[in-house]
Amino acid sequence: MNTMNQDITILAIESSCDETAAAVVRNGREVLSNVIYSQIDLHTLYGGVVPEIASRKHIEKINQVVTGALTDAKLSLNEIDAVAVTYGPGLVGALLVGVSAAKGIAFGAGKPLVGVNHIEGHVAANYITNPDLEPPFLCLIVSGGHTHLVMVEDYATFRVLGRTRDDAAGEAFDKVARAIGLGYPGGPKIDRAAKEGNPDAIVFPKTKIEGAPYDFSFSGLKSAVLNYINHANMSGETFRKEDLAASFQKNVVEALVSRAMLAAEEFHMPGIALAGGVASNSALRAAMDQACKERGLKFYRPDPILCTDNAAMIGAAGYYEYLRCREEGHFSGWNLNAVPGLKLGER
Ligand code: KG4
Ligand code: ZN
Repeated sequence: MNTMNQDITILAIESSCDETAAAVVRNGREVLSNVIYSQIDLHTLYGGVVPEIASRKHIEKINQVVTGALTDAKLSLNEIDAVAVTYGPGLVGALLVGVSAAKGIAFGAGKPLVGVNHIEGHVAANYITNPDLEPPFLCLIVSGGHTHLVMVEDYATFRVLGRTRDDAAGEAFDKVARAIGLGYPGGPKIDRAAKEGNPDAIVFPKTKIEGAPYDFSFSGLKSAVLNYINHANMSGETFRKEDLAASFQKNVVEALVSRAMLAAEEFHMPGIALAGGVASNSALRAAMDQACKERGLKFYRPDPILCTDNAAMIGAAGYYEYLRCREEGHFSGWNLNAVPGLKLGER
């Protein structure tokens, strides 16, 4: 236990999808180690994440990444203050592996257990890269499973202003990439291809949702892209994949940036942060940076390695959750379970 100083060192575990990860984070901001075993190559064979394969691989790798994180941090379990773990949202079998491991480790070592919301982890990745960042701020969370525009009112208080009505932004990237034969995961591949393409080559329709200015919809765009490809194939016309990737990406980026700017203005937010896998998209980062500069807003984004799933972000969110639990006088119970549909801000 820390009796000499106020430092809080957290061992964090993440296994909600296809990354098995463990990290050691101090005071929510300083990463002492960050070990990620990515299963991507395994799932690429099937064109997407296969839940049963993910769970099995997590079981094989979990102890290895936890040991690796402690070794890299040059710390023993005794020197850890708490064990934080993602308990939702995510794939139930995958989550259960991390939750079970965390419970066993925390119970065995006599440390408190702290359940963390995966989406809140994505938001908290910003606290690592931007040590001066404190709520309130606006956050655009764009990952493979989620697209949310939220006001981070406090470390544990979130107000959802808008969300996707159908596909998540990352999902749209993955589906379009598959349709043009770029493979899985599509986001980074579209990002790369788009650099060689003309974003104005094809104009895809913009989606607006009546009466919900901050909500998103990407399924119409996805259908428009698929129709474009089918039409080209049937009429024997050719198109450059790079142009299609750039044009699709431009449409998504404009949808995301325009809503974020509208909300920043309406709610007088001093800064905007990006979070989630799609936050590593180079066009999105550039467009947000530019739009924020034009309006005198601060722009925050995590390092690319902290955008996609990792445990350091769970250690950052886990720190603030640890402080909250400590104040309330109770941590997560030994009956902590995986909650696949856990909502942002839900406890
Ligand atoms: O946050 P994440 O690792 O997992 C979820 O919690 O969903 O996000 C993964 C998603 C995938 O859909 C992937 O294609 C997308 O993030 N992604 C990107 C980029 N890198 C990852 N999308 C666009 N551009 C990128 N550079
Ligand atoms: Zn994620």
